[in-house]
Amino acid sequence: MKSILDYETVALADERDAIVIIDQTLLPGQTKLIDLKTGEEIWNAIYLLQVRGAPAIGVCAGFGIYILMKHSKASSEEEFLSELKKNKDYLNSSRPTAVNLSWALERMEHKVISFIEEEKRAGRSFDKEAVIKVMHDESEAIKAEDIDVCRRIGENGLTLLKKGDGILTHCNAGQLATCKYGTATAPIYLGHERGYDFHVYCDETRPLLQGARLTAYELHSAGIDTTLICDNMSASIMKAGKIQAIFVGCDRVAANGDAANKIGTSVVATVAKHYGIPFYVCAPTSTIDMNTFTGDDIVIEQRKPEEVTDMWYKERMAPEGVKVYNPAFDVTDNSLISGIVTEYGVLRAPYDKAIKEMFEQNK
Ligand code: MRU
Repeated sequence: MKSILDYETVALADERDAIVIIDQTLLPGQTKLIDLKTGEEIWNAIYLLQVRGAPAIGVCAGFGIYILMKHSKASSEEEFLSELKKNKDYLNSSRPTAVNLSWALERMEHKVISFIEEEKRAGRSFDKEAVIKVMHDESEAIKAEDIDVCRRIGENGLTLLKKGDGILTHCNAGQLATCKYGTATAPIYLGHERGYDFHVYCDETRPLLQGARLTAYELHSAGIDTTLICDNMSASIMKAGKIQAIFVGCDRVAANGDAANKIGTSVVATVAKHYGIPFYVCAPTSTIDMNTFTGDDIVIEQRKPEEVTDMWYKERMAPEGVKVYNPAFDVTDNSLISGIVTEYGVLRAPYDKAIKEMFEQNK
């Protein structure tokens, strides 16, 4: 039988002008692939978390802008670029925190502009078909790079672990949040292939249960020793000595190393510091935003109250009219982070210096 790991999180079905995603809101009960064809379908899929996780959102946005521009009726370079910008701004408005969304859209636009400039220098005029082909190749490159980057994060993260370690993770920074391996789960998958016999604990991750529905599902499907816990249980298993390392993903790392990830991550980091357990943030460089100076500058998405009051239960779970606070993410202070695991290696504090040097060395 096909496992959830045999499906692609995001794929381009170019022949029918569609992006194919697994509708993650239905997992683990139902594995349903859906086609996204219009701007509204792509926007809604990102907003509704049918496709989610920073890198997967970026890949989906890259394919999305390509699919939308493939239908462009523009008859000049100016018209094409203005339509591209409109579509880019629209897709970018679907979710504010994961920087991979704007990163992928900017990358696609930049590629188009530099291609048009090169063509001009070579004396060629604007050729829409050629630009569309460049967009296709760039969107597939973003996806291929995501797989390579996650594998390298896995190799670098694995150097921080020992056989038999207990690992805690929060939310889903797994294969379902990327195109393969995940970020926080990549060291776990690679270690599993190499006989590390990890014991993984997944925070269920309220309110939308990405830890229970997605991370526990994919790790368990891979045959990894997986235990699901409620979010309020992590301190007790840390105190009991069951956790040797914590690995989480992130949605945006600021230039000073503060890291935004799913709400509740900073609670785990704070408790880990108390118990002296290393807390690692796994971040592809596409998630590090040098234009965001500190965590205070990261826009935190606020989501609708019903996610807290009404979902996952047949009746409303909270009194009518009660006030609800529902931020999707929080920021973990860089002082609580033991290392940031990137595709280029493990960065250590002081992060402002380490991040700057990493970008300079890998231009
Ligand atoms: O709201 P979500 O499900 O998109 O939140 C996802 C997370 O917080 C992930 O940990 C993060 O995007 C990193 S994914 C590699």
